[in-house]
Amino acid sequence: MRVAIIGTGSVGRALALGLTGKGHKIVFGSRDPQREVDMAESLAAATATPAIAAKGAQIVILALPWRVAQDAVRELGDLAGKIVIDCMNPLGMVDGALGLVLGHDTSGAEQVAGWLPGARVVKTLNQVGAEVMADTSTLPHPPVMFMAGDDAAAKGQVASLLSDLGFDAQDAGDLRKARLLEPFAMVWINQALARGKGRHWALAALHSTGEPQ
Ligand SMILES: NC(=O)c1ccc[n+]([C@@H]2O[C@H](COP(=O)([O-])OP(=O)(O)OC[C@H]3O[C@@H](n4cnc5c(N)ncnc54)[C@H](OP(=O)(O)O)[C@@H]3O)[C@@H](O)[C@H]2O)c1
Repeated sequence: MRVAIIGTGSVGRALALGLTGKGHKIVFGSRDPQREVDMAESLAAATATPAIAAKGAQIVILALPWRVAQDAVRELGDLAGKIVIDCMNPLGMVDGALGLVLGHDTSGAEQVAGWLPGARVVKTLNQVGAEVMADTSTLPHPPVMFMAGDDAAAKGQVASLLSDLGFDAQDAGDLRKARLLEPFAMVWINQALARGKGRHWALAALHSTGEPQ
């Protein structure tokens, strides 16, 4: 697939690394494409402005800080028909601590869908740290990664991309289920940053065999 990764930070680079050698054509969309040429080449990727990168892609991954998301996403132009992966968590300071600045009756992903009419938005890749996205191979079980979106075909293609990254893709339902997936990301963040677990771990979905051990 032709994949545009908008943002060249931790998540953008991690995803490019994780997808290296999986048959995808990756272009980073950067505010300063020239600055990122060497970094992109080291990951067998190209660079362009965000709007050009998105225009040429089948899948557009949004790896931007939430605080800049609305302006940056609107500048991408018309993405109708394209699959848009929203891996952003709507984070900010809440009561003096890192938290979600919206939720319950909406989600970041639903806001993104409102900014991009006709885009096939899928919420995913927001639930673990960038280190795991870059390399799942050292984990003893494929980590679970939930997806929420309204377009079943889009979720099918995103599931394939998640599988290329080594994730166990699970369908969480329609895009409104991003209201569950964004707080769910806070479970990982809290364990990683406040409970001493560090960044190299993930959750797995384990199913009973029905056979007592
Ligand atoms: N870090 C994680 O482990 C992790 C895990 C799951 C989800 N997430 C979510 O993924 C998103 C990206 O996180 P990240 O850690 O990759 O962020 P980051 O390291 O800060 O990188 C964000 C990138 O966004 C681009 N950008 C565009 N406009 C910008 C602006 N006005 N100000 C700053 N950057 C701008 C920059 O790339 P250019 O300079 O090339 O334009 C920048 O490198 C966030 O919403 C975060 O909540 C992060």
